[in-house]
Amino acid sequence: MHPSGRPMSDAERGATLDAPGFGQVFTDHMITLHWDAGPGWHDGRLEEFHALALPPSASVFHYGQEIFEGMKAYRRPGGTIALFRPERNAARFNASARRLAMPELPVETFVSAIELLVRQDRDWVPHGEGTSLYLRPFMIATQPTLGFTLPSRSYLFCVIASPAAAYFSTRTGPSALTVWLSEEYTRAAPGGTGAAKAGGNYAAAFLAQRQAVEQGCDQVVWLDAAEHRWVEEMGGMNLCFVRQAADGGSPTLVTPALTGTLLPGVTRDSLLELAGGLGLGRTEERISVEQWRNECEAGLITEVFACGTAAAIAPVGHVRGAHDAWPIGDGRPGPVTMRLRDELLGIQYGRIPDDRQWTRAVC
Ligand code: COI
Repeated sequence: MHPSGRPMSDAERGATLDAPGFGQVFTDHMITLHWDAGPGWHDGRLEEFHALALPPSASVFHYGQEIFEGMKAYRRPGGTIALFRPERNAARFNASARRLAMPELPVETFVSAIELLVRQDRDWVPHGEGTSLYLRPFMIATQPTLGFTLPSRSYLFCVIASPAAAYFSTRTGPSALTVWLSEEYTRAAPGGTGAAKAGGNYAAAFLAQRQAVEQGCDQVVWLDAAEHRWVEEMGGMNLCFVRQAADGGSPTLVTPALTGTLLPGVTRDSLLELAGGLGLGRTEERISVEQWRNECEAGLITEVFACGTAAAIAPVGHVRGAHDAWPIGDGRPGPVTMRLRDELLGIQYGRIPDDRQWTRAVC
């Protein structure tokens, strides 16, 4: 589908698939599925990609009841196309639904919907290194009401798909990001929606993300709401640190613990497991900004990277804030980051054996 809404010619589609960018162009089809109080889920359809018609009174426009997921379909040697741990995204979607008082969707329905769309639009899965078909399942509240007594009594679940290059990478591999410490704003507080993949979290993040860009940085880093001291996550990705062992032993992969205010990333979880398999230590702990800076200065933290579905693994080279700035290692992607990246992408793209059965061939 052309961004203007008309179907693309074969030549236009070919050019898009050669250099897909991220989230600009969408495939020819989409999934829709409705939920109403009483019948529950009904009328699931694979349809041509189209604009949604909703009354301006639909609850989502006023109270922001929206959740989403991010997933990818990867083209693999031999021409098959596979998903990566789709049932984890389904489970997180349902956790988000519970927090936003929305109906849960059976895991098998969620996964079947994704598979149906990928099979239908398989020609849209790009071939290039690091490219994929990015899948965006989402759910919105559709009841036409401004009432705020109870949550919406009707919802629409949709899946759309978009050919994508790696979020930050260049064609020659990842370049290191510069990140901005947001000391003025916070993303999530205890008891809030930080662990849910809710559109509202991202809406509230744009101001700080724009500030990051104005400061010449790529992404914002969020700190905790109470003390503005503990590192939580980046704009749309989790953060991982590589800490060297004082005794010269194996390094440890360190990532902020899931305190309820940050997103439990599927990539984050996968990397913790892969790190163990590669002989690295791994720990989920609280890490403060001072500790981050001091450990970089002392040569203990030598690498930092962002991880998420869209970003995959994106190395961080420099940190900047209103009062401070420091490099991470030599500012370039480090060996542990690249080793973990090779392992993860190797499994996703079918270049190395998937011993954990994380991938699921769709066609
Ligand atoms: C993803 O990684 O899938 C996300 O949803 C993050 C978004 C900022 C692109």
